[in-house]
Amino acid sequence: MFRTSLVSISPKVVIGSRQLHASPVALKTVTEKVSEVADKVNKGVGKTLASAIEKGERASHAAKETLETKTDQAKGKAQETETILKQKGNEVGARVSARQKSGEDIISLSVSLFDLNMAFNMDRSASATVPSSTAIPPLYSIPIPSFLTLPKAKEFSALYTFATIIISLLVLEQAVYRYKKRHLPGAAWTIPLIGKFADSVTPTMEAYKRQWDAGALSAVSVFNIFIVMASSNEYARKILNSPTYAEPCLVHSAKTVLLPQNWVFLTGKEHVEYRRGLNALFTRKALGMYLPIQESVCRKHLQRWLDAAAKDPSPQPIMMTARHLNMETSLAVFCGSHIPEHAAQEINDKYWAITKSLELVNFPFAFPGTKVWKAVQARKVALRWLELAAHKSKIAMANGAEPECMLDEWVRTLADPAYKGRKDFSDHEMAMVLFSFLFASQDAMSSGLIYGFQHLADHPEVLAKLREEQDRVRQGNYSQPLTLEMMDQMPYLYAVVKESMRTKPPVLMVPYKATRAFPISDDYTVPANSMVIPSFYNSLHDPEVYPNPEEFIPERWLDPNGSANANPKNYLVFGSGPHRCIGLEYAQMNIALTLATAAIMMDFEHDVTPQSHISESNYRDDLSKGWVSTQADATNIRLI
Ligand code: HEM
Repeated sequence: MFRTSLVSISPKVVIGSRQLHASPVALKTVTEKVSEVADKVNKGVGKTLASAIEKGERASHAAKETLETKTDQAKGKAQETETILKQKGNEVGARVSARQKSGEDIISLSVSLFDLNMAFNMDRSASATVPSSTAIPPLYSIPIPSFLTLPKAKEFSALYTFATIIISLLVLEQAVYRYKKRHLPGAAWTIPLIGKFADSVTPTMEAYKRQWDAGALSAVSVFNIFIVMASSNEYARKILNSPTYAEPCLVHSAKTVLLPQNWVFLTGKEHVEYRRGLNALFTRKALGMYLPIQESVCRKHLQRWLDAAAKDPSPQPIMMTARHLNMETSLAVFCGSHIPEHAAQEINDKYWAITKSLELVNFPFAFPGTKVWKAVQARKVALRWLELAAHKSKIAMANGAEPECMLDEWVRTLADPAYKGRKDFSDHEMAMVLFSFLFASQDAMSSGLIYGFQHLADHPEVLAKLREEQDRVRQGNYSQPLTLEMMDQMPYLYAVVKESMRTKPPVLMVPYKATRAFPISDDYTVPANSMVIPSFYNSLHDPEVYPNPEEFIPERWLDPNGSANANPKNYLVFGSGPHRCIGLEYAQMNIALTLATAAIMMDFEHDVTPQSHISESNYRDDLSKGWVSTQADATNIRLI
């Protein structure tokens, strides 16, 4: 109860003892008195002494309890106390005078509540007294250098309070983390405030694998967001298929970029119904319409690659060229001739700003100059052109034109009397849907395509088989346009695409959020509002299902009874459940036809650089929707 404190006593202070007021009622006034005196002293001798008094005040509060409990015992000692107090007060007064003369500051060490109460204006009119054992601690005076005087002490007091609050919060943070984590594997303590933030800035495959291998469920915290990672197939699928407990969790900037009213933010029944209407855009009939569009854009781009290689035969990174190819293909498929070429080019040029704005670690507000702001400008341009395209499509369909793109197919479906769903979609709504498709597909499809090129270049025997199949199906006629029926006769091509995305999945994990306590296993419930992240890697590298899982073996997909085909639940490349990728067939077809066309048009080899290694072990988190995607950026291809 008795505190040791440093108190500087100004030479001006006259310290004396008064009678001690120690009745339970009067005890309240002790504090007031001390404060009052503290005020006076403040005026008289400055802030330094006030700080000391405040300390005494705190000590006074602390001592109340002791006083109350010991009042009875203390009664008999009151007189004795009073006498000693007087003596002590006089001693201090004398010492102050002496120091005053010598011009030194005085530090009194170990000034207790009772020293202070005694020294500053105590009124001893009450009946109860203080026990002698606690009443009179000694006063010590130690001279100290002036730089240690009370202004520092006051600052120290504020600092002390601040430090106490911070330490309490940090302890609380650890306690909450431990409470939520329970027995799950993962760091026993979280790094204060930031948690595993550093790992999420420079993610590596090795670090992810360590986390996944720690357990089917494991815990991690980033910026106080508690995250449960699910690495097994069972738990990953459980998260994706439990819409009542968990829903996709988009990066903060996604709503600003995509607009909050975009359908991708719908959940539950609303989402299911909206999505049902959009399924009409990916039927086999619709895909048959898209195929020639895709092929013609693809050929145009590959010819450009060849022309560029003729001028400069050195190896070139294909990240941006592959992205441009995919973007132009998608815009042509979505909007056909309703979007002019220069508009497609403008969207293409600006789209990179959107990808950059979707990094998980990003300044989330659209202040001018920020990545999100640039993305919003890009979205405005894109939406303007897409709205115009929707408008033109409606006019064309109303005039009886034949559908020639996704928009036309959509307008036609809506007008079909057999169609039972919602029929009225504004130009703006249609544009938002198409924009969501660009948003959800651009990065994943680009990574998928680039890894496809890399695998073919690294496995010439596979490329040779793929070419054989092309020769067989095309029968030597390489300019003949592809049809769905021809694609159906290319199982080896599709096996290559499937295996490429299995070994190097374009999307590694999809963050979900537990909307309420989620009993994911018999002995663990994910706390509400935690992030819960299904990872696809272990499912796609399960040696039971895919023997030699690190090997690129397209043949494993050719046997209908083989373990790969017998376990479709393991193939989580496109997710699972109500949010499973709506464009998966379109995406696979696009990658397949691009690789097939490249195989018949050109020779290429993979130029392995030091960056190739880095890119293969690094994964990035900037994919649309905040997905964690593979990093295929550094692949260099030499056309030969
Ligand atoms: C290789 C290319 C692609 C990959 C690897 C991929 C992967 C994924 C994954 C993992 C999801 C999340 C699934 C889940 O939460 O269970 C998803 C959702 C989605 N994907 Fe894809 N995707 C690709 C291409 C595309 C394309 C081309 C489109 C559109 C044309 C598209 C449109 C979407 C949409 C709209 C969603 C959200 C669906 C919903 O919330 O209902 N994706 N995709």
